[in-house]
Amino acid sequence: MSLNLRTLAAPLLQHQAPSGAFPACPTFSQYPYSWLRDSTFIAYALDRAGEHAAAGRYYRWAAQTIAGRAEQVANLVALRRRGDAIPEHAFLPCRFALDGESLDDGWPNFQLDGYGQWLWGLAEHLRLQGIHALPQEFRPGVEVTLTYLKTFWREPCYDCWEEFPYRWHTSTLASLYAGVQAMQPFVPGLEPFSAAIHAFIREHLVQGGQLVKFAGHPDVDASLLWVGVPFGVLSVDDPVYVQTVQAIEQTLLRGGVHRYARDTYYGGGSWVLLTAWLGWVYIRQGRHEEAQALLAWVRAQDHGDGLSEQTTDGLLNPLYLDYWRGQWGESARPLLWSHAMHLILEAEVAAHASPTPGVFS
Ligand code: BGC
Repeated sequence: MSLNLRTLAAPLLQHQAPSGAFPACPTFSQYPYSWLRDSTFIAYALDRAGEHAAAGRYYRWAAQTIAGRAEQVANLVALRRRGDAIPEHAFLPCRFALDGESLDDGWPNFQLDGYGQWLWGLAEHLRLQGIHALPQEFRPGVEVTLTYLKTFWREPCYDCWEEFPYRWHTSTLASLYAGVQAMQPFVPGLEPFSAAIHAFIREHLVQGGQLVKFAGHPDVDASLLWVGVPFGVLSVDDPVYVQTVQAIEQTLLRGGVHRYARDTYYGGGSWVLLTAWLGWVYIRQGRHEEAQALLAWVRAQDHGDGLSEQTTDGLLNPLYLDYWRGQWGESARPLLWSHAMHLILEAEVAAHASPTPGVFS
């Protein structure tokens, strides 16, 4: 295993809590908590660096934290069966305190994508270690998650950027598909479930030959990259995916990759993690030189004090920057998810430049 990847894993390991959870950012006022979304990719990066023990601590924490909500999920399912209205705050949260407790602070919590992603990440954690059976310690958390998703996967919710409530978001549905699909070797009878999610995406989330940000909204969002890599809803050479990547390049790639054209959060800078993501896609599409160029851009964002969430130059909507600085201070740094995606891209580039393919994967 390359020393370089172990070095890149250091900031992730440094901030892992004794519980196994990862804060999104240890220094930013709003992000000292563990999002399933960020944490899954942090754990996946650790797995790619060979740090399976640390990744395992995270997955045990996530499994226990979710299993501890079995009663809440049973109540939610009963409410839905009776046809009762469910208030947004009653659903499972998108983020937890590092000890697994809930945070009752009015955050837009109803985001389903993390519940698919953690299942996907857990399956990758096992696969990368050659484990073919689901260890018992994970099973209750997996089962509670699947029960929850079977009932609520078609519920419109907030997206992965914690915005646009009450919509069907393509990257959310892709995350759910990936999680259910990844659990198939371990849990019998999931095929119809993943097939239903796949059909939903094809039917409602493709418009004019390309994927859309959410149902009924024609724009692209860089999180649509996830549909191909790593979630495999579409292959990287599927014409719909190829056209979507082209649209992302045309509208969102300006040095780094922006989230979506109308993004106003911190003025709408380039996101380090999304730039690394496009590099990951390029590797999988065989576009190695373009991947190298994005890797160089990502590396250049670290000025010795870690990778931030987003840049402050090249903003799409600069008018909004001062508002957010006034609310919450400078944009988050170090954002562990940015570090994780940098590590993943380094691993991908190294694997494809290696004279002995497979060594780094
Ligand atoms: C992002 C989320 C992320 C959270 C913590 C938000 O600004 O939109 O995707 O999970 O920050 O990093």
